[in-house]
Amino acid sequence: MSRDLSYNAVMARRGEIMKKALGIEYDEFIQSEIAFDYEGMMEKAGYSLDKVRQIQQQTGVGNTPLLELKNITRLVRKTSKKGYGASILVKDEAANPSGSFKDRRASVSVYHAKKLGYPGVLAATSGNYGAAVASQANMMNLGCIIVQEVFDSRHLGQPEIIEKSRKCEAYGAEVVQLTVGPELFYSALIMLEETGYFNASLYSPFGISGVETLGYELVEQVRARYGKDPAYIVVTHAGGGNVTGTARGALKAGAVNSNIIGASVDLSGLHMASDIDFNKKSFTTGHTGFGVPFATWPDRTDVPKNAARPLRYLDRYVTVTQGEVFYVTEALAHVEGLERGPAGNTSLAAAIPLARQLPEDEIVVVQETEYTGAGKHPQAQLDFARRNGVKVIRGEPKQNVPGKVIAIPENFSQLDITEMDLERMRRSYIRNAVTRNNVTEVTQEELGFLAEDAKASPAFVASVLEGLGVKV
Ligand SMILES: Cc1ncc(COP(=O)(O)O)c(C=O)c1O
Repeated sequence: MSRDLSYNAVMARRGEIMKKALGIEYDEFIQSEIAFDYEGMMEKAGYSLDKVRQIQQQTGVGNTPLLELKNITRLVRKTSKKGYGASILVKDEAANPSGSFKDRRASVSVYHAKKLGYPGVLAATSGNYGAAVASQANMMNLGCIIVQEVFDSRHLGQPEIIEKSRKCEAYGAEVVQLTVGPELFYSALIMLEETGYFNASLYSPFGISGVETLGYELVEQVRARYGKDPAYIVVTHAGGGNVTGTARGALKAGAVNSNIIGASVDLSGLHMASDIDFNKKSFTTGHTGFGVPFATWPDRTDVPKNAARPLRYLDRYVTVTQGEVFYVTEALAHVEGLERGPAGNTSLAAAIPLARQLPEDEIVVVQETEYTGAGKHPQAQLDFARRNGVKVIRGEPKQNVPGKVIAIPENFSQLDITEMDLERMRRSYIRNAVTRNNVTEVTQEELGFLAEDAKASPAFVASVLEGLGVKV
């Protein structure tokens, strides 16, 4: 019998297709419309930290160097009040096989697919994750399909996304390039159904447990070298897996006092699903266009329950501007001799003003770098921005207007952060949890789940619910 490939029919089969392609019985963990057993899911459906380390060792993932940015730290101290300016260290994740921390995420999914006998893996992503899955699939002798949103309706592609397509193709993956729109998920579903491949979702417990080793390793390395824990761990934040996995790993290492600080490029005002805005941005990940919606409603993904739940772990969330990240990208190359890509440099841009807030003997860890390539380079991005009508100037960070002006700082002391209102985001998450599930009453257990998931007190959750007219 031939399959009905109409949009509605395929979407109606999505639960069934996904179940076959991932092999996780989410029903086992779902307790109600609102609550589910998160830790139970992570434990039962994922892998232990020791097992993940073993898996990653086999494909050369992890154990990346922790570098002290001595010259940048010196500049931080020069621009701080006396006695201030913590040491900045960076975990050089570009040393992973495909050049980013996404190898950690991909390695566990691909290992699992191989173990279960799937013929190949599929990932729907326009990011570094595609290259990571393709690279790991080659190591495990599995087929690989990467589905990417690449072009706007003029068939113009952002240089960084084109770079990421190129990289996936270099690994020999079958790359399916699409224009912006809802067809990404639909196309992925059809291909999963047709090929019987494993869905290497970014948001499964496999992927997130893969990132835990990053948090764990960095705490071990800092302790071994400095005899203390980092005060701040700064994490570039988009879909939330980076924050979640790193924080879980750091906690497993016992670093309970290290603050987890998410950092994103401020792209407020630009709409990620908009054909026009798509090519008005110079950053394709690590920005607020993903960071805010994913933190305030994680279950917007291809899996029933997202294992990436950043609000559970964030102590602070800060933003930087596009111009600041370009400036820091050059500074890292010129001052430290490290030419690295945009996503890691986002948390580095935030780490500089954050380090100024701490005494000299404290430690700030930027938890990743990523590889750079022609399409990721500031020159390619700034040329593209200009061609798309964006003004590029030198000036104060506050002159940046996403999609209109990129202001590159004139000196190091101008680098700054904007603090996001996490309490507001927690409110927004609670509102999403009840409105998206059409709930008018919650039980004490559900209230407890919301408090945990939003890292808020039960009293705070109760007051938000009351404001929404939801009975407890
Ligand atoms: C190199 C790099 N850093 C950080 C991120 C952000 O990770 P997450 O989406 O899990 O927040 C990404 C995701 O695209 C990435 O590729």
